[in-house]
Formats: sequence, C-alpha cells, structure tokens
Amino acid sequence: MLFEGLELVSALATLAACLVSVTLLLAVSQQLWQLRWAATRDKSCKLPIPKGSMGFPLIGETGHWLLQVFSKVFSHEALQSYLPKIQLVVQDTLRAWSSNPEAINVYQETQKLTFRMAIRVLLGFSIPEEDLGHLFEVYQQFVENVFSLPVDLPFSGYRRGIQARQILQKGLEKAIREKLQCTQGKDYSDALDILIESSKEHGKEMTMQELKDGTLELIFAAYATTASASTSLIMQLLKHPAVLEKLREELRAQGILHSGGCPCEGTLRLDTLSGLHYLDCVIKEVMRLFTPISGGYRTVLQTFELDGFQIPKGWSVMYSIRDTHDTAPVFKDVNVFDPDRFGQARSEDKDGRFHYLPFGGGVRSCLGKHLAKLFLKVLAVELASTSRFELATRTFPRITLVPVLHPVDGLSVKFFGLDSNQNKILPETEAMLSATV
Ligand code: HEM
Repeated sequence: MLFEGLELVSALATLAACLVSVTLLLAVSQQLWQLRWAATRDKSCKLPIPKGSMGFPLIGETGHWLLQVFSKVFSHEALQSYLPKIQLVVQDTLRAWSSNPEAINVYQETQKLTFRMAIRVLLGFSIPEEDLGHLFEVYQQFVENVFSLPVDLPFSGYRRGIQARQILQKGLEKAIREKLQCTQGKDYSDALDILIESSKEHGKEMTMQELKDGTLELIFAAYATTASASTSLIMQLLKHPAVLEKLREELRAQGILHSGGCPCEGTLRLDTLSGLHYLDCVIKEVMRLFTPISGGYRTVLQTFELDGFQIPKGWSVMYSIRDTHDTAPVFKDVNVFDPDRFGQARSEDKDGRFHYLPFGGGVRSCLGKHLAKLFLKVLAVELASTSRFELATRTFPRITLVPVLHPVDGLSVKFFGLDSNQNKILPETEAMLSATV
C-alpha cells in the first residue's frame, strides 16, 4: 500500500517535472525564434514592419503604404502590359531548351527564367546578358543563406548572405540609376516605374535605399516560388500525358493551337487566357498538391483560443498551407493529381474560404498571385503548343520541401520543338524573338 502511494507520488512528480520542462522548452524556443528573426532582419532596411508581421531575415518587409502601391503593380492593366514581354521571355527560353542536345535541369533553368522575368519584365532593367548571369549567381548565394543562423563569423552562411546582399544592392543601385536616367523607347510601364510613380502620388518620394529594398523584396518573393511551381507544372504534365492532351485540345478549340500547326498566333491576351478553363484547373491543381511555400509566420497581437488551446499575445505562430491542403475535407482523393476537381461540375474549392490557400490568406496574402498565375499559364500554353518533352531519367526525382518545394536533383528533361507539322517557328515569331526584352 505504502509502495503504491509512493509510486503514485513519484509518477505525479515526474509528470509535473515533464510539464515544467516542456513549458520551459516552449518558452525558450519561442524566445530563440523571436531572437533569430529579430537578429537577422536587415538593419539597413528603412521600411517599417507592420503590426503582426515578423519581417524576413536579411530582407526588409513590405510597409503599409508600400502595400497600396504594390497593388497597382499587379493591376489588370499592368498585367496586360507585362503579358507580351512574359510571353517573349518564355518563348525564348523554350527555344533555347529545345535546341540544347543535352537534357535540361528544369529546376535550375526555371530559376534562371523567373529571375530573368523579374529583372527584365517586372523591373525593366536592361542589364547585359553576361552581367545578368553574374547577378543570378550572387542572388542564388543570397537565397541559400537567407535562413542561416545569425552568427556573423568569417565563412559563416550569415556572412556569405550579407556579402551577397551588398553585391546585389550595388548591382540594383546601378541598374536603378541607369533606368531613372534613360526613359526613352519604352512601350510599357514596368513595376518599378509604377512603384516610383504611385509612391509620388502617395506623397512619398522613394529614397534609393527604399527602391533597393522594394526591388529586392519583389525579386525574392517572385523568384523561388514561381520557379518551384513551374517545375511542378512540367513534372505533372510529364506524369500525366492525358492532362497535356486535354490542354492541347482546349488550345485547339480556342484557336490558339492550330491543327495546321503554328505556335500561338500573335501575342496572347489576358481575356484569351481567362477563357481557358481547363488550363486554370491544371494550374490550380499544381498549386494545391505542390504548394511552393509550406506556410507563413505571424506574431499574435491578441491572446486567442483555437480548438481549446490558448495562444498568448506576443507568441510567434505559423499557419501551414501544406497541412491545410492535405487535410481539407472538401478534396476527394486528396493525393491524386486531378485538375477536374476544380472544373464546373465539381468545383471542390467552392465550399469554405480556408481550404485552399496556395498564396496565403488574410491581409498579408500574396500580392503577386495574379502575376504568378499569369506566368504559369503562359508557360503551360507555350509548352503545350511549341514543345515536346521527355523525362531524361528512369524515374521521377524525390521532392524536398525546403526552402521551397522542389525536386531533389532538379528534374532532368529533354525538350524538342514539336515535330514536322507542329514545330515550325514562323519568320514573324523569329523576328519577335530577336527583339527580346
Ligand atoms: C507560384 C508563385 C507564388 C507563390 C506560391 C506565392 C506565395 C506567397 C505566400 C504564401 C505569401 C504569404 C506569406 C505569408 O503568409 O506570410 C506571399 C506573399 C507575398 N508574395 Fe507571393 N507567391 C508567389 C509569387 C509571387 C510573385 C510573382 C510576386 C511578385 C512579384 C509575389 C509577391 C509577394 C509579396 C510582395 C508578398 C508579401 C505580401 C505582404 O507581406 O503583405 N509573390 N506569396
């Protein structure tokens, strides 16, 4: 009896000790987490951190007034004016891939493609091709070290990240100065033009530091995410030839892919793309199953309760996009790639706002989502209408989720132009491409 009593007391003591340790561990890890984000924030960045947001390590953070300005950068008119340039950059890239006798590392190449899109189309920089290649390498070094431990020692990832950022900011400053001086011969307003103009309208002339922070943030937000989604798109089209064929049928029916066999006639328009419903389903399904970003971080502004758990004010929390998509009851056969789930007959995403959020949710959701979707649609249309492609390895690669979802060894694919009756590159297209942006 006495022994049983002692055992009970010792069990309770162990339980209490465990609870205290877990609470302490949670509190310490919360503090470390906060410290890690605070320490790695870019101190030179002048943009204020909005309430509830944690800011990015080594990068600034979109300020409230800048958010309003960004909304113009992604307006319908702005997207229409970027579209022909995006199409040219994509066509140019696919031609280079198809004419390469070797297999292409798709993840590596889509990173270059999205970087090029961000620099040339979004920011309108006319950096020579060679310098662009160098800037891309520095940018990769920067991104690789964004989430490194904030220990500023020689050879540490953090130091390499800081050095890369300094070189990038120098390069960006040069490109911005050149752009500000040379405004002639431009047939459209890019995001940087809109950023400068609308900030003036908000009574705020942007300083060089703010312009550099703004452009670096735009590139950072656009580059890895869109490359990840582009790679997943190509992988799924390879895995599901029936989906690719159905896409081609839709393009044929809309007069975009002609049976006589020329690639997209003329340039694409936004209204043409919005009429392609199956294409929309394919992109949505890629973004559901292969969401590039796992989730987002927030600081709790007010203590609240969730499922019976109290989340205290001041805590850092993460919402998971991937788990939401995996567990949302609205999706049938959740692991199956099935674009038709978004078709009119089923519309599995119609019930509830919080089951499908590849671009995040709430006031801090993705500002560039329409641009990202536009880019993916152009890529899919161009792939379906001008390219044939085959997996160059025996099996599909494994997927890893960090820092964004991507295939472990890239994704090795051999590209060809479409054969005899479909791959003729018209002289007009040739001329258009030689005038790349
Ligand atoms: C497939 C591509 C993309 C995906 C999956 C994606 C996803 C996301 C997500 C999930 C967030 C919210 C993160 C959070 O909750 O903290 C976000 C924020 C953001 N995204 Fe994207 N994004 C993509 C492409 C782009 C592009 C192309 C741009 C612009 C050029 C862009 C600009 C932004 C900006 C500026 C924010 C910050 C918004 C804020 O802080 O209020 N994104 N993105």
